[in-house]
Amino acid sequence: MTRPVAVITGASEGIGAELARIFAARGHELALVARRGARLNALADDIAAKGGPRPLPIELDLASAGAADALSERLTEAGLAPNFLVNNAGFGLMGRAIELDASEQLAMVDLNMRALTALTLRFLPSIVAAKGGVLNVASVAAFMPGPGFAVYYASKAYVRSFSEALSQELKPAGVKVACLCPGPVETGFQARAGFDFSGVMGAMKPAMLPAAEVARQGYEGLMAGKRVIVPGFVNRMFVWGSAATPRALLLPLLATAQKRR
Ligand SMILES: NC(=O)c1ccc[n+]([C@@H]2O[C@H](COP(=O)([O-])OP(=O)(O)OC[C@H]3O[C@@H](n4cnc5c(N)ncnc54)[C@H](OP(=O)(O)O)[C@@H]3O)[C@@H](O)[C@H]2O)c1
Repeated sequence: MTRPVAVITGASEGIGAELARIFAARGHELALVARRGARLNALADDIAAKGGPRPLPIELDLASAGAADALSERLTEAGLAPNFLVNNAGFGLMGRAIELDASEQLAMVDLNMRALTALTLRFLPSIVAAKGGVLNVASVAAFMPGPGFAVYYASKAYVRSFSEALSQELKPAGVKVACLCPGPVETGFQARAGFDFSGVMGAMKPAMLPAAEVARQGYEGLMAGKRVIVPGFVNRMFVWGSAATPRALLLPLLATAQKRR
């Protein structure tokens, strides 16, 4: 006999940690995945102290070869079978593609796209059997090309396209698939990507949503059967405006904005 579990990647901080808190508060048993095991253990203790079952912390580099197999083995050993999968782990790198380190950009491809796809394909059988769901974290970047952030934006466009197609394929099986597309959120993301809020991003701070609010909207949108979730009115306007702007105008505007970050 196996127990159903919600697997959340990138749960050691930021949006993923808040997604873990929301899933736990709504009664899901959890497996938390990231490289920093100490942080996962601290979060698991915190969630257990609130009365829920203690999440299973799984220290794993999802960009490494065989990560999906290793994760699957850990869950099986623990008697767990995923009914929900949250593919949240991801990172971005700001700068011109030609100037950024090529291997780091390929590591981004490995994590943001390859690992997300591998875990989804790996766990879909148990998710379908449980009529559960998949929440993939993309970004507003999924809706446009990103000069000055090219590989990251392209990776998130992949996540959105994959998620939307999957949601249609799996609807008859009663499985929910949603793509969460946040705008800027203050997390560890900015330091990893190579910018802070001292540039043009600083002006956006008042309109930014906290990670906990983004996670809540992601959870509730998934459970309500939404296909794409863009939290925040300003972010929805940004997505709408970028779609309505001719690319010849949009590309130089975005390139200038990235340079000012
Ligand atoms: N913050 C934003 O402005 C923003 C906006 C739109 C979309 N997003 C997306 O939201 C998601 C979460 O980002 P965040 O803002 O919460 O960033 P964050 O605070 O930097 O968190 C990223 C998480 O991913 C994990 N991670 C990174 N590399 C990993 C690897 N190789 N293997 C396993 N786990 C790994 C990190 O854990 P370890 O370091 O412990 O491994 C961490 O838990 C990402 O997909 C990001 O693209 C963020």
